[in-house]
Amino acid sequence: MNGTHRTLLTGATGTLGRALRSRLREAGHEVRAASRSPPTAGGAADRSDAADVDWVELDLLDGTGLRSAVEGVDVVVHAASAPRGDSEAVDIRGTERLLDAAAEADVSNVVYVSIVGVDEIPLSYYEHKLAAERSVEGSAVPSTIVRATQFHPFVFDLLEAVSRLPIWPLPTEFRLQPIDVGEAADAIVERATPEPGGRVPDVGGPAARTVGDLARAYRDATGSRRPIVRLPLPGSTAAAFRSGAALCPDRTVGSVTWEEWLTAGE
Ligand SMILES: NC(=O)c1ccc[n+]([C@@H]2O[C@H](COP(=O)([O-])OP(=O)(O)OC[C@H]3O[C@@H](n4cnc5c(N)ncnc54)[C@H](OP(=O)(O)O)[C@@H]3O)[C@@H](O)[C@H]2O)c1
Repeated sequence: MNGTHRTLLTGATGTLGRALRSRLREAGHEVRAASRSPPTAGGAADRSDAADVDWVELDLLDGTGLRSAVEGVDVVVHAASAPRGDSEAVDIRGTERLLDAAAEADVSNVVYVSIVGVDEIPLSYYEHKLAAERSVEGSAVPSTIVRATQFHPFVFDLLEAVSRLPIWPLPTEFRLQPIDVGEAADAIVERATPEPGGRVPDVGGPAARTVGDLARAYRDATGSRRPIVRLPLPGSTAAAFRSGAALCPDRTVGSVTWEEWLTAGE
């Protein structure tokens, strides 16, 4: 669905946010892109992909810029998150702040981006995402929750982190279903309408893969010959990743495979 909606995009500088920014514009949205440090004149805003949206300063940690960011907005696409920071403060309390402001501003639909398996995998970041989902569902503002599987760059960064080691200790039996971030963004843009969808079907990549399998493809693509060694991880989080809790095998929305993405050199 396309149309001219005034849309606030949180997390507009992130991996997903960058893909959403251009796609929302292409779908006809007037995009208000939020960041704690918006690109300034003469800086990143001069890049064509950043210049065709209005930038606003927004910090979900303390609510800086929140009221003006939601003013006059029809739709909020909430892709801001602090996976490596204080996710309790940003993802739970920051989301609640955003919901309150959106309700007060009569926003028609807050689209919350979540992760497949947050209700089954007891990783603290996922627990915070699940708490944020509950806040979204309990809020006065109409909403949509879209869960996606891991993006290709996320898996790539994990493998890059071990790639300099002489052997690669990895949880080879973990199962993931990585998706192209652009294809995930396409599916989220479809939900960015004034009509709230509630919890909508998950968005996953083309195939469920083991981490061992993904690592071998990465090793081939990078020309490395380092051995991959199974890292036995105890605990319920590891068991959940092994059991397929991060997968949505009946929701293979993305078509770009891990190998294709690696070859494209993104
Ligand atoms: N990565 C994955 O594989 C994956 C898979 C499924 C779903 N998701 C979900 O998709 C969403 C986006 O993930 P991503 O990987 O694109 O994240 P990311 O690259 O880490 O980007 C996070 C974004 O959040 C913003 N942010 C961080 N702290 C903030 C704060 N205090 N106030 C306002 N903005 C703040 C950052 O903007 P500034 O630094 O410019 O302020 C940045 O744009 C998240 O909700 C994540 O859970 C991710």
